[in-house]
Amino acid sequence: MLNFSFYNPTNIVFGEGQLQELDNLVPKDAKVLITYGGGSAKKTGLLDRVNAELAKSGRTVVEFGGIPANPKFEVLMDAIKIVRDEQIDFILAVGGGSVIDGTKFIALAAPAKAYEGREKELMHFGFTPVPVDSAVPFGTVLTLPATGSEMNNGAVISDGEDKLPVFSTHTFPKFSILDPKITFTLPKTQVANGVVDTFIHTIEQYLTYPVEGRFQDRTAEGILQTLIEIGETTVNEPENYDARANLVWCSTMALNGLIGAGVPQDWTTHMIGHELTALTGLDHAKTLAVMQLANWKVRRTEKREKLIQYAERVWDIREGDDDARIDQAIAKTEEFFNCIGMATRLSDYEIGPDIVDRVVAGLEKHGMTKLSERGDVTPEISRKMLETAL
Ligand code: NZQ
Ligand code: ZN
Repeated sequence: MLNFSFYNPTNIVFGEGQLQELDNLVPKDAKVLITYGGGSAKKTGLLDRVNAELAKSGRTVVEFGGIPANPKFEVLMDAIKIVRDEQIDFILAVGGGSVIDGTKFIALAAPAKAYEGREKELMHFGFTPVPVDSAVPFGTVLTLPATGSEMNNGAVISDGEDKLPVFSTHTFPKFSILDPKITFTLPKTQVANGVVDTFIHTIEQYLTYPVEGRFQDRTAEGILQTLIEIGETTVNEPENYDARANLVWCSTMALNGLIGAGVPQDWTTHMIGHELTALTGLDHAKTLAVMQLANWKVRRTEKREKLIQYAERVWDIREGDDDARIDQAIAKTEEFFNCIGMATRLSDYEIGPDIVDRVVAGLEKHGMTKLSERGDVTPEISRKMLETAL
């Protein structure tokens, strides 16, 4: 097992009816900014329920709606101004990954005096923590199980054709309320996105090369098998509480640092996926389903041992030689994605060969030239993956 440091301070408050804990979780004397997205939280009545909980202790509340999917720097700047002008001292994100990620950026940029007027620079530290001393404390009410943003300190922020990761030691949510019922209003396609994003987060930290991380491997395999068990049900039966509760908990646990501690991590699929979203607007998870299969096809030699382990332990494939097992495991994964309505080729989204050069140029521009668990995925190998995915 590799050395690691594991730190996660987020308080998870899970289950039906837990919204009523808001009054205990948000400081009573706080001036609160509620952040939300394009309107679903308003339409479903969730925003009213959140306001009612905060009003119990007479808090002053300001609202900021309109954070779009793939949160945009310019929109977030409007909220940063509000936090400064209104002297907000607690932010409550009500939404999915985009609202929570956007809120993390608002929380760290608003008090960063040294970056006032040049906040965009905060987007360009990559996987190095942004050098700020503090952030406005914030909590979340999760509405879409997918990204794990509710229990990690990462964000992905967009600015034109740049879609970039931002990390800070100060951007763990103070708490996250995870009520599976709040996610019942999601359209099927977003639930399928959630299943696939969670699946690929697990794969990025599991399917690399063996390092005797037995706990991490078994836990990752448990998440993958749970997703396979509940995937179709939670997409097709939106109000099946138990299936959805398992998706919610899997997505939080897949990217809160636990399964990735002490093991190599890949993230090639994500980095290529982010470029695809920035250039085409395709949903995050949809880029992943396409690129993960291509990643395995191109790097099956480098990932051979783990692909064999994945075939046997996750899919119970025990017949045939190693190559046949790997082929079957890749085919089974594709079948699973397809059965929850997820396409697995770029051409399914009418994205043609001209995307390849543009994505490769984006990877080069953003310094994503040594990707994967071994740092051996050069732009040329990314190109091969994209060509395989067409
Ligand atoms: O904007 P509204 O109107 O609220 O609608 C949203 C949005 O259109 C809708 N929605 C959310 N909850 C709903 C709902 N509709 C009905 N009922 C509900 N309960 O769903 C749409 C998608 O929402 P979004 O937040 O964009 O989806 P997701 O949670 O998949 O987040 C995707 C973003 O997270 C980033 C992605 O790159 C992308 O920008 N990621 C963040 C990560 C992190 N912070 O750790 C890791 C991930 O790998 C990912 O990169
Ligand atoms: Zn993801």
